[in-house]
Amino acid sequence: MSQKEKVLIFDTTLRDGEQSPGASLNVQEKIEIARQLEKLNVDVIEAGFPASSPLQLEAVRRVGEESSRIVAALARAVEHDISTAWKALQSARHPRIHTFISTSDIHIMGKFGHERYGKTLAEKQKTILRMAVDAVLYAKTFCHDIEFSAEDAGRTDPGYLAEVIEAVIDAGATTVNIPDTTGYTWPSEFGKKIADLKERVTNIDQAVISVHCHNDLGLAVANTLSAIENGARQAECSINGIGERAGNASLEEIVMALKVRSDLHDYSTGITTREIYNTSRMVSSFTGLIVQPNKAIVGDNAFSHESGIHQDGMLKNRQTYEVMTPQSVGVPETHIVLGRHSGKHGLQSRLLVLGYKVEGEELDKVYQRFLSVADKKKEIYDDDLRVLMGDEFNRPAE
Ligand code: KIV
Ligand code: ZN
Repeated sequence: MSQKEKVLIFDTTLRDGEQSPGASLNVQEKIEIARQLEKLNVDVIEAGFPASSPLQLEAVRRVGEESSRIVAALARAVEHDISTAWKALQSARHPRIHTFISTSDIHIMGKFGHERYGKTLAEKQKTILRMAVDAVLYAKTFCHDIEFSAEDAGRTDPGYLAEVIEAVIDAGATTVNIPDTTGYTWPSEFGKKIADLKERVTNIDQAVISVHCHNDLGLAVANTLSAIENGARQAECSINGIGERAGNASLEEIVMALKVRSDLHDYSTGITTREIYNTSRMVSSFTGLIVQPNKAIVGDNAFSHESGIHQDGMLKNRQTYEVMTPQSVGVPETHIVLGRHSGKHGLQSRLLVLGYKVEGEELDKVYQRFLSVADKKKEIYDDDLRVLMGDEFNRPAE
């Protein structure tokens, strides 16, 4: 049997996820989510951005002290952020400083427009390269595990990106992260970007390649999978895909895509998938960000079947319309939704569960009554069925 290569799961729910519009978490909520992430068995928990507020610093400190995972703290490539990150992480069991700076032309010109960074793009690029290296060297004075991110790598010139990545690895970065910050790339394009880096960067084997994809075009998970196929071995993601703007790549989708289609590749994660649903619920309730019903893996409809054809198929063999079991992600059971698309067979089997055994002409009659109610109501619940059965058919199943 071939040995699968591990893809590390770096969860950024508590950092990028918390940057979602409308979401905010207090220290206790962050600690509880971190405990749940530990049950989920993620490899890295990015707990926050300590320089951004005292609450963030305290949350990172508490998560770092308690967690047996690698705990990362974000820092811009400036000394103050890095030393503050270390202040938060110094008592962590497995600390990681995660420092970043922008590398794309558009970011450099927009964010580093001041003349002190240089007059031309080429001069500014030199300054950014030096700041990146200095940040890693400085972070390295505090701990061994350093991640460097080239912000907006998705839109960065490939030659310049390779130059920066080579230099930060020389300076001691142990993980190099290639974010598609604006969710702009296509899967084939992003995969090539990773393959290209592997070709150009001579010391790339000395660091883990990570990717961090945003979902502005709905491609974050596809881009992450394409990057993995081309050499990335850490995937940055969040529970329910929450994060800046349209969010980050969703942890549950990456993990289950790799697991369900393990026939296609040689990668695996260490995630305890049965904990996915609990984690999703906890994150949704603490952040107040609801999960859309049709969200893959964790949405209310992910294991619900309404149409008659689907319900009939499911009752005969669940693999007809389910590519994974609900239990594999911690959802208690498949939900057969009774509504106007449902067929006789689905109705009959639900009635049986409720204690009504109905067959033949009797079933035809009940089904007609069911359809007239279902035309007026989105979903027919068990209580509706009891009313529908009324006195006429009300008797216990044999
Ligand atoms: O999207 C991004 O580029 C980020 C970095 C800070 C990693 O969140
Ligand atoms: Zn991000």
